[in-house]
Amino acid sequence: MWRELAAIGRETSTGGYRRYAWTAADTDCRSWFRDQAGARGLSHETDRNGNQWAWLGDPAAGDAVVTGSHLDSVPDGGAFDGPLGVVSAFAALDELRSRGAEFTRPLGIVNFGDEEGARFGLACVGSRLTSGQLTREKAYALTDADGITLPGAMEAAGHDPGAIGPDPGRLARIGAFVELHVEQGRALDLSGDRVGIASAIWPHGRWRFDFRGEANHAGTTRLADRRDPMPAYAETVLAARRAAELAGAVATFGKIAVEPNGVNAIPSLVRAWLDSRAADRATLDTVVAEIERAARDRARSDGVDLSVVRESFTPVVEFGHALRDELNRLLGGRVPVLATGAGHDAGILSAAVPTAMLFVRNPTGVSHSPAEFAAEDDCAAGVLALADVLEGLACR
Ligand code: GLV
Ligand code: MN
Ligand code: MN
Repeated sequence: MWRELAAIGRETSTGGYRRYAWTAADTDCRSWFRDQAGARGLSHETDRNGNQWAWLGDPAAGDAVVTGSHLDSVPDGGAFDGPLGVVSAFAALDELRSRGAEFTRPLGIVNFGDEEGARFGLACVGSRLTSGQLTREKAYALTDADGITLPGAMEAAGHDPGAIGPDPGRLARIGAFVELHVEQGRALDLSGDRVGIASAIWPHGRWRFDFRGEANHAGTTRLADRRDPMPAYAETVLAARRAAELAGAVATFGKIAVEPNGVNAIPSLVRAWLDSRAADRATLDTVVAEIERAARDRARSDGVDLSVVRESFTPVVEFGHALRDELNRLLGGRVPVLATGAGHDAGILSAAVPTAMLFVRNPTGVSHSPAEFAAEDDCAAGVLALADVLEGLACR
């Protein structure tokens, strides 16, 4: 499976993956998923929101056990964030079949669409739409950097966007969802464990800061006469680092757009996206308020206009104790339980369905980078753990 996925959407100059929603690379990932389902005799469907499902047994019977993750990536993402959960899901089914397991509940394997939000700016679009956490109206208004709308992109990729929206009937037929994911930190490496169980996902969000000034000549405009938005932006980046450090939170400006983006032109606009996360909501609110205050102070003194828009927000997720304790019991009772600052479809689904996560050791902790890595024997341990969990939940 890894060999077949390896070349899809890989940028050879960086070694990273660019598998953005509804692009050719995404289509290739989807074909791969359909082929994997077909090779195992599973039925396959793409739901109204573009999520792919492979089924063993009839999902209409209800109380299904579902596992899986996503296949899309961030810009120059690693090989494992997302695909490890999908590959492990198919491999765990193979393992259960070789054990001769008899399924008493339908088993689903899912590939959620557009988890990373790299193209349209909002993460977990597929699971948010399905669970009703993203309205159809808001989804229709999403655009990429070229002004292509989400429904336009869906249509161009051959998916009819006409029916996107909540799918409560689908979720009602799921009794448990377990997402396996590469760890995006070093907790398991430090504890010496191959596999962990998620306790919680930090609350997190994305905010767009638009600093608007006035374009002018870089050589002839006196400093005193400028309305340059760049220093206010720069000040804001430093304030974000300070505020996050003080609060034990994280804050990142990882994407900016500058207009007109000329070396010898004072910018008219610096548009910057803040990603901030913290262990609790009050801390996150404090950090973001402090960053915005610093941005406004500097913008005012530079004659720059500032607008701040919260583009997305995901509240804290505490995974239900019943399912996570059950996982630990099925895995022998000694699996470390850890919180994460990364967002997941599992976090979105947990509002509607009993949900749990397994993490697989990442020896460097690096993720959202071509250097992301997980050792083969740790991945194999993840598959066996997932198989044990699915066997305990879905088999006789
Ligand atoms: C997704 O990986 C996120 O945490 O942003
Ligand atoms: Mn990710
Ligand atoms: Mn992921």
